[in-house]
Amino acid sequence: MAHKGLDAFKYNQEESVIDASKKVKIGIIGTGWIAESHMDVLLQMPDVEIVAGADLVPGKADRFFTNYGIEGVKTYPSHKELIDAGECDAVCICTYNATHAECAIYALEHGVHVLLEKPMCVTLEEAVAIRRAEKASGKILSIGFQPRFNDNMKMVKDIVQSGALGKVYYIQTGGGRRRGIPTPFGTTFIQKDTGVIGAMGDIGCYSLDMVLNAIGYPKPLTVSGYVSDYFGKDPEYFTSEGKPAEYADIFAVEDFAAGFVRLEGGIILDFRIAWAMHLDTSGDTIIMGTKGSLRIPSTECWNGTVGGDLTLYSRVAGKEVETKFPMRPRGAHGEFYYKMRTFLDAIKNGGTAPVPSEEIIINQAIIDSIIKSAKLGKEIEVEIPEI
Ligand SMILES: NC(=O)c1ccc[n+]([C@@H]2O[C@H](COP(=O)([O-])OP(=O)(O)OC[C@H]3O[C@@H](n4cnc5c(N)ncnc54)[C@H](O)[C@@H]3O)[C@@H](O)[C@H]2O)c1
Repeated sequence: MAHKGLDAFKYNQEESVIDASKKVKIGIIGTGWIAESHMDVLLQMPDVEIVAGADLVPGKADRFFTNYGIEGVKTYPSHKELIDAGECDAVCICTYNATHAECAIYALEHGVHVLLEKPMCVTLEEAVAIRRAEKASGKILSIGFQPRFNDNMKMVKDIVQSGALGKVYYIQTGGGRRRGIPTPFGTTFIQKDTGVIGAMGDIGCYSLDMVLNAIGYPKPLTVSGYVSDYFGKDPEYFTSEGKPAEYADIFAVEDFAAGFVRLEGGIILDFRIAWAMHLDTSGDTIIMGTKGSLRIPSTECWNGTVGGDLTLYSRVAGKEVETKFPMRPRGAHGEFYYKMRTFLDAIKNGGTAPVPSEEIIINQAIIDSIIKSAKLGKEIEVEIPEI
């Protein structure tokens, strides 16, 4: 059963040499929608044995593996029983946001490597606890930001790191969807006890990762944040298919957020993200520097990737010039493949996490501070404890 969603775009990356004689035993925790994308790439890995799966919903994990026609996978009623069984070298945590932290900490405390879906978790406090468990375990923890493996996203980082922009001082990022509250596959994204955070945890964290990864993840110093839920809470809200949404009474997260963030190094980050709005896009991403600025076109339905050719604006030989960086062509595999492959390679070769939590904790701290600042109605200082 092929899941065509998230691995449809293929890029050219360096291929690792896979030693199929050394297999990694994998468990899947949470067998919902995104677990299908994990399965689709795991099934392409000759050095993986899928040995276990768990879901809180009775029978769901069994149905999941049956649909793939795979036999012999042991299933469990929650992450705890799966990890206690002690059969897995690594787990993919594909649960809704609310249980990311408890699953990741339990796995790391039991000596199991973790590929944790984004967002890392839902609060800064949880992110700190995950980091501490990771440090004590010495295991690999990688966070599921597959756009990092997109060649066009890598080009953004390459341009910034080349020094072509000079000193970066202002960044505008974010994006959104005109109608895009993610409910087609259920309501776990919009309920407080499962999603906990809304548009920021779903798509905002990608926008933040795109620019913060490019500039080397400087620490945030202060944040002034705003959140709202006008569309999700509106009983008259219609989905992009023109159907009444019928979930206003259970909608309990933000459908829009904005933050004004001061970063170390005198950089301003101006961020906004929308699940729904009366607008086509809330703007391209721009990274402004003393020698040049970079424009990264927004995608129409924001999904954390690059929407078109990049443009570098600079001054050469006394002339204002615009340099286009065409979109890179597709290659053999998609982003999701590399997200998994780099995780497996790090486990097998004793490497470091491909998407390290020491960076993503900063992403989480910004989201957390936007929520806290919005509640207080004023700018707050951000403090990330030493791990
Ligand atoms: N990387 C991506 O492109 C991408 C795309 C979509 C979703 N996601 C992320 O993946 C996560 C899951 O999203 P989804 O759409 O698959 O959600 P979902 O609600 O379809 O599936 C989550 C499943 O996890 C199970 N679960 C929760 N806690 C559990 C526990 N302790 N033990 C075992 N099972 C547990 C639930 O019963 C549910 O079946 C979210 O955090 C989301 O942000 C990532």
